[in-house]
Amino acid sequence: MNTDMRITKSGESFHEFKKRSDVGQFPQAFSDYVKSHGDIYFWEKGNFHVITKSDHAKEILLSDAFSADRGSFFISRMPNMDLSLIQDFFSVVRKMMVMSDDEDHLKKRKLSLKGFDDQVLLRFKSVMSKTIDDLVSSIKDQDTFEFVSAISSKLPSTVLADLFCIPNEDRHLFLEHSNTMTGFFGGASKYQNEDGVKVNNSASFLKKYFERLIDERTKSPGEDYVSQVLVMQKELDLTRDEVISQLIMMLVAGMATTTDQINNCLFLMVNHPEVQEEVRAKRGLLIPMLEEFKRLDPAVTFIFRVARKETMIGPQKILPGDVIFISTHAINRDMPVEDAPNEIRLNRIQNHFAYGFGSHFCIGAKLARMEINTLFEKLLDLGISWKLDEEKLSLRDHYSLSFSGFSEIHLKQNKSCPSHSS
Ligand code: HEM
Repeated sequence: MNTDMRITKSGESFHEFKKRSDVGQFPQAFSDYVKSHGDIYFWEKGNFHVITKSDHAKEILLSDAFSADRGSFFISRMPNMDLSLIQDFFSVVRKMMVMSDDEDHLKKRKLSLKGFDDQVLLRFKSVMSKTIDDLVSSIKDQDTFEFVSAISSKLPSTVLADLFCIPNEDRHLFLEHSNTMTGFFGGASKYQNEDGVKVNNSASFLKKYFERLIDERTKSPGEDYVSQVLVMQKELDLTRDEVISQLIMMLVAGMATTTDQINNCLFLMVNHPEVQEEVRAKRGLLIPMLEEFKRLDPAVTFIFRVARKETMIGPQKILPGDVIFISTHAINRDMPVEDAPNEIRLNRIQNHFAYGFGSHFCIGAKLARMEINTLFEKLLDLGISWKLDEEKLSLRDHYSLSFSGFSEIHLKQNKSCPSHSS
């Protein structure tokens, strides 16, 4: 391999750095660490190139020299696993839109977008509002509570189960298997054979579950997401297996990401009481605040691609098969120093990468924004100000290199705050 033009760096592994970072300092410290090695470099420890400049990120995410199919990279991370144990898992994942390119990707994306059109989301808004009301009212009389178990881990899974109209009696198993798939897909597994057996069982369960659901919704269609997608299936001439993979994709992509992003936003809000009070007084600033928090502490920490051909990105030579990791923390802060990239500014023009960029831009962004905006609106409506409970430490959860959130956020009502009496 000709690596003469390759800028190569090494140091403490990114995942280790994440795990030992201070809870409050993590996002900036991580961004600084990733950026300290340069704008673009080959990271020996991970065997991938790292991108920290937003222009390079855009170039890659818009270029057909790079593929979203990371199957081979994924497999290279599982040296101890007997791959024959995860055949069902692979047959589902291989067909997902997030692993597809070009026309094939466009067709799958079109199929799934139908379920997220404005009419579907508008009809769905009242169901979502009711779920959020129930969750928020469960904590309103509590002086102290743990946010992740009370709210953020429950909301995204309930929203997706409602969107798909999953019968109540099936929800427990449906969510359990979705979580197993998400953990494995997101890199939270140790990739031993027993993990493979477990995830394969979940993939097979979900596949059979959706086969049954598709039969039912074909016979008697409703206004739910699955029925909408089936209308498009006929137009786009996709197979039943391809439709099932996109439905499972929604679960894998839409649960942990949203939980993590809610947690990251909440933690920043309670850590900045001055911002919390400003937004409480001027509700028009709520969305700018949340988008600014997503910029500063994105739930998806790396977006990755695989080179399809030899190419140059800035000064770096990229060879076919090379893997590229784009650091969202770094590129979200890539702006002139005078624009204060590490500070919260509610009047910024937002063009952050928390939901990705280019042809694979997050298909669920509208749904996630509706969910997060409504939740924070209703939390503020309670008229209670929260702070971190100093007696119980909040814990970050860096369960994989690509995702970051919290496993525990302990809150306490801030009774000295003026808004408390409003
Ligand atoms: C705040 C929550 C969310 C965040 C931070 C997030 C982030 C992202 C990011 C960064 C990507 C780009 C991945 C890439 O380019 O490789 C992406 C893609 C995707 N997201 Fe989200 N996401 C969120 C919520 C959701 C939800 C709720 C759903 C669906 C229910 C969803 C479905 C998808 C799908 C299907 C893709 C792949 C799109 C494609 O390949 O064309 N996401 N998301």
